[in-house]
Amino acid sequence: MNTVPVEIIRLKKDLRARVKTWHMKGLTVGMVPTMGALHHGHLSLVREIQKYVDKVVVSIFVNPKQFGPNEDFDKYPRQEAEDVKKLAEVDVDLLYAPHQEEMYPGGFLTNVSVTKITEGLCAAKRPGHFDGVTTVVTKLLLQCLPDVALFGEKDFQQYTVLKQLTRDLDIPTEVMCGKLIRDPDGLATSSRNIYLSPDERRIALEIPKTLKRVVREVEESRLPLQQSLDNAIQHLLDSGFREVQYLEIRQSDDLAPVREKITVPSRVLVAAVVGTTRLIDNMPIKAPVA
Ligand code: PAF
Repeated sequence: MNTVPVEIIRLKKDLRARVKTWHMKGLTVGMVPTMGALHHGHLSLVREIQKYVDKVVVSIFVNPKQFGPNEDFDKYPRQEAEDVKKLAEVDVDLLYAPHQEEMYPGGFLTNVSVTKITEGLCAAKRPGHFDGVTTVVTKLLLQCLPDVALFGEKDFQQYTVLKQLTRDLDIPTEVMCGKLIRDPDGLATSSRNIYLSPDERRIALEIPKTLKRVVREVEESRLPLQQSLDNAIQHLLDSGFREVQYLEIRQSDDLAPVREKITVPSRVLVAAVVGTTRLIDNMPIKAPVA
């Protein structure tokens, strides 16, 4: 295959200039923000956004503000050369890969924070995580000003928070949700899957199986909702997970907790730790036909 090399931009002024030229020619621009270590989930987001826009910018920036003090910021995989090759294979137009100083120059004092929907789920065990995400994504969107930005369905709370953020701050970018991609064995793709030993991966596969079971039980009203969730948590612990941080059902549109009955489209969402790796996943639950 003859791939065209991807242009790499490191400065926001160069990114702005390039996107401005595209917009002046009447071209639409999409952005896929990432932290790199690209896998086929990211590449599927690129292919998806290419259906809606003329030009695609992928950003790679491992954002220190969204990692807690005991999290994996230092060991988070950084492999720009490999990522660039993968982006060329899917015809990305531009890679924006700013350095730390470009994103957070000395004297940086601002924090962007979304309330309410950033409480619970992933936020419970990762205080400050969503402020880090909303701060960096606000900057990335304002630096690029894309027409559309695509975020993966695996981080469903993140997608919901970012949709709210752009709505509340009048950022002129449409936030869309890109389909969750699974490996052939069913595990949701994630840059952190490379941390899993073969044994841990075998345990990790209980996540999609368990979520499927909860969806079935709830959609077919086979068990009271809380009993289905309690059984699922116990099953994950019995299978070898060190911790189940949450396993909950929330309404899909605003993440409001669902306690007894599904009345609107909802999702079962989970975060669980196997070995030292924290995995998240979620699946939709249909509302009963009225
Ligand atoms: O989902 C991610 O990879 C990150 O949270 C994001 C959206 C790129 C912000 O750093």
